[in-house]
Amino acid sequence: MIESHKFLVTLIFLALISCGAARDLRNVTEPKTPETCASLKATGGDDTKVIQKALDSCTKGKAVALSSGTFYSGPLTIPSGVNLLVDEGVTLKALTDPSLYDLGAKTCGTLNEFGVGCKAFITIHGAKSSGIYGKGTIDGQANVTMVGKNKTWWELSNDALVAGNYQNNPMLVQINDSADITVYQITLINSPFYTLTGYETNGWTVWGITILAPTTARNTDGVDPIGCQNVTIAHCYISMGDDNVAIKALTGPSRHISVLNNHFDEGRGISIGSEIPHGVSDVYVANVTLNGSVNGIHIKSNTYRGGHVRDITYDNLCVYRAQHPIYLEMDYVHLHGNRTPEFRRITINNMKALKKGEYIIYGLSESNPVQVTLNNVHVAKGSAFLERFANITGKFIIDSTSEDRCGYAGIH
Ligand SMILES: *[C@@H]1O[C@H](CO)[C@@H](O)[C@H](O)[C@H]1NC(C)=O
Ligand SMILES: *[C@@H]1O[C@H](CO)[C@@H](O)[C@H](O)[C@H]1NC(C)=O
Ligand SMILES: *[C@@H]1O[C@H](CO)[C@@H](O)[C@H](O)[C@H]1NC(C)=O
Ligand SMILES: *[C@@H]1O[C@H](CO)[C@@H](O)[C@H](O)[C@H]1NC(C)=O
Ligand SMILES: *[C@@H]1O[C@H](CO)[C@@H](O)[C@H](O)[C@H]1NC(C)=O
Ligand SMILES: *[C@@H]1O[C@H](CO)[C@@H](O)[C@H](O)[C@H]1NC(C)=O
Ligand SMILES: *[C@@H]1O[C@H](CO)[C@@H](O)[C@H](O)[C@H]1NC(C)=O
Ligand SMILES: *[C@@H]1O[C@H](CO)[C@@H](O)[C@H](O)[C@H]1NC(C)=O
Repeated sequence: MIESHKFLVTLIFLALISCGAARDLRNVTEPKTPETCASLKATGGDDTKVIQKALDSCTKGKAVALSSGTFYSGPLTIPSGVNLLVDEGVTLKALTDPSLYDLGAKTCGTLNEFGVGCKAFITIHGAKSSGIYGKGTIDGQANVTMVGKNKTWWELSNDALVAGNYQNNPMLVQINDSADITVYQITLINSPFYTLTGYETNGWTVWGITILAPTTARNTDGVDPIGCQNVTIAHCYISMGDDNVAIKALTGPSRHISVLNNHFDEGRGISIGSEIPHGVSDVYVANVTLNGSVNGIHIKSNTYRGGHVRDITYDNLCVYRAQHPIYLEMDYVHLHGNRTPEFRRITINNMKALKKGEYIIYGLSESNPVQVTLNNVHVAKGSAFLERFANITGKFIIDSTSEDRCGYAGIH
């Protein structure tokens, strides 16, 4: 008796450890807005210099507050230790002149085969403990005609699709090589390209923010951790034209990421991939409702990208409607190369999908299947199940109906 009791305790303890590890390892709580070092009022003209000067001379640990009016600005850099605060009712608009964002090759605002000609509207680079705060709005103005062009950034993105190449558009917020970064409460709208992207950043909290763009706005990704560790994305509302969240691993691994208590409307779902050659592991997605995204859970790679995806846990997800509530594919867009992707220890607990959809699980081969565990996963009658090289433990329970209710993940 005593021995088996001890054994059980040990098992529970081990389970707790492994569960605790598969997420942001920090203890993350709701961020606190920093005190201000300066408070600015919009002039109605180009305020780039005024805002940048205030940021550059702000005391570390404090924030430059944009406190009234509508600001127009070109690209801004938030220095290490400094924060930008956009107060409630205030909007910071990105000027639409592509030459302001150009990285030197005079390609920003044009199409070519690279698509990397612009700097972001807001850049945080090599910083420690910086952030963006406030209940105001940062507007990328991608729906507005560019200066010197006869089209908007989003129209340029659509042209790229037709031309089969890439648009050179700015990201709205780009964080690189940084640590302890916070993005809190802010509303980010109309991004010309990816909305909020972090590269190689360790310790990144995205809490209570709103991201909006029309569903037709190409490549407007919501939050993209790329080669990042210790990330929490919580209490957010995201509705735009691409992946609501996309975890990638281009130049380093992405690990220990928590996606908690979010509501996603339009978009392409919670994605891992496809640019993941360095692997993604220890991701915990819990309490997320999705209403209208093309996909729910999407993990995508192929032999061109490769990448090991391991220890990914989804818990308490509800999908109102999605074409593909679950889409795990190792042959994404049929791109082939000489890398070997692996999808192991993917666990989906307590999921409910209210409308019929297509469930796709495609592994690579008999010896390299997608390995997934389903626990209490309820799907609607009439759903389709497409499986190939899928090692599934557990099964789909086909009993949910559109009369069911999701409850609501606790956003804001
Ligand atoms: C992640 O957070 C844990 C806990 O604070 C810390 O020990 C670890 O070094 C962090 N990892 C990285 C890559 O910063
Ligand atoms: C997180 O909190 C737990 C419980 O209070 C504590 O044991 C642990 O050391 C904390 N971890 C970090 C990285 O602060
Ligand atoms: C662009 O979008 C903003 C906010 O979403 C809206 O207020 C504005 O009218 C739009 N402008 C154009 C030219 O469509
Ligand atoms: C701008 O585009 C509109 C249609 O989108 C077209 O009618 C107009 O002639 C164009 N103007 C110039 C200067 O190219
Ligand atoms: C940020 O990182 C990306 C990916 O490594 C790189 O392409 C880009 O040039 C970097 N940007 C800055 C401002 O350092
Ligand atoms: C998920 O939501 C439940 C109910 O609101 C809450 O008790 C739980 O702490 C949440 N889980 C996480 C990981 O935030
Ligand atoms: C889901 O989306 C539909 C269509 O936009 C909307 O009518 C409905 O209110 C949304 N439900 C929730 C809970 O967000
Ligand atoms: C399928 O997954 C189980 C673990 O859930 C593992 O024991 C088994 O070896 C896997 N089979 C293949 C062919 O990978």
